Amino acid sequence: HSLHSGTVSWQSPSNIALIKYWGKYGQQLPMNPSVSFTLNNCHTRTSLSFERKNTEGFEFEVYLDGKREEGFEPKIQKFFERVEVYLPFLADYKFKIETFNSFPHSSGIASSASGMSALALCLVSMEEQLALDYMDDYFFEKASFLARLGSGSACRSIQGPLIVWGEHPEIDGSSNLFGTKYPFEIHPIFTNFQDTILLVDKSEKQVSSSLGHNLMLDHPFAEQRFRQAKDNLLKLIPVFKSGDLSEFIKIVESEALSLHAMMMTSIPYFILMKPNTLEIINRIWKFREETASNVCFTLDAGANVHVLYPQSEKDFVQNFIKDELSQFCKNGEFILDEVGFGAKKI
Ligand code: PMV
Repeated sequence: HSLHSGTVSWQSPSNIALIKYWGKYGQQLPMNPSVSFTLNNCHTRTSLSFERKNTEGFEFEVYLDGKREEGFEPKIQKFFERVEVYLPFLADYKFKIETFNSFPHSSGIASSASGMSALALCLVSMEEQLALDYMDDYFFEKASFLARLGSGSACRSIQGPLIVWGEHPEIDGSSNLFGTKYPFEIHPIFTNFQDTILLVDKSEKQVSSSLGHNLMLDHPFAEQRFRQAKDNLLKLIPVFKSGDLSEFIKIVESEALSLHAMMMTSIPYFILMKPNTLEIINRIWKFREETASNVCFTLDAGANVHVLYPQSEKDFVQNFIKDELSQFCKNGEFILDEVGFGAKKI
């Protein structure tokens, strides 16, 4: 490779799963297909500077918000080892990886999806500069493939607004290896859907996602759960087309609770909700009963609540969040986000 040095930068968003990925096999391959909204405001900006070297092994430094972050380096080391076969130039360069998150580091929102997808995009851009010129689709496919090896759900952060990851017999082009754009008709109500993230618990994850995925390996309900996710994804196809929000809500909330049910029924078992998580869920249900709102919730593997609602209800629901739900957040904090369209080169 002739290039001596250079820098590439990408901004990549987080994503929120509607159908949850929980359980993996082999090299970060999902046990069931999932689908997510790509987010807009929660993102990571990463600059990758590279310089040719003549020594063996990987050499890199990681900076977060301008500060050296040695704590991240084992994770990056493992990622480099995994992806080296797909990026054979990795050991020929030393790297400086500088990342900035748009959301607070200690917010309890995982930065792995945005962070790993941004780094994967930088590496594919670098590869493109070194040798290859990718066709657009192949570029994103490779970036998603590499992001998956960093953190499974990160493969759904490259493009938007709706991304499928995991083979589904009814979804053309779906793959276990990388995320793909949802290929069918999407009602416009979903392309500007709102997501407000209520920060109930800002501490580090109680259960790492690797540990969580492993709990599915000999989980008594595993097969049922994988089938349920697949069925729920199939049920969402007509919903995405018609914009039927009452059906959307049933599927999305059931997925969130099923994910948590898996953790409550594994050995060892975990309860990842907090009392305030339940309080928020009950208040959302009550609000829906008492008003004509289509607000609903989803959860990741933690206590924070993602509140989902159509843009047409923005003021109405955001007032409800401020007036009634924010008291159940740590320091009253929440993050306003909405559906986005994927990563950008910067
Ligand atoms: O990408 P991972 O390995 O951190 O797994 C994340 C899984 C969930 O966030 C709980 C669900 C999902 O599909 O994003």
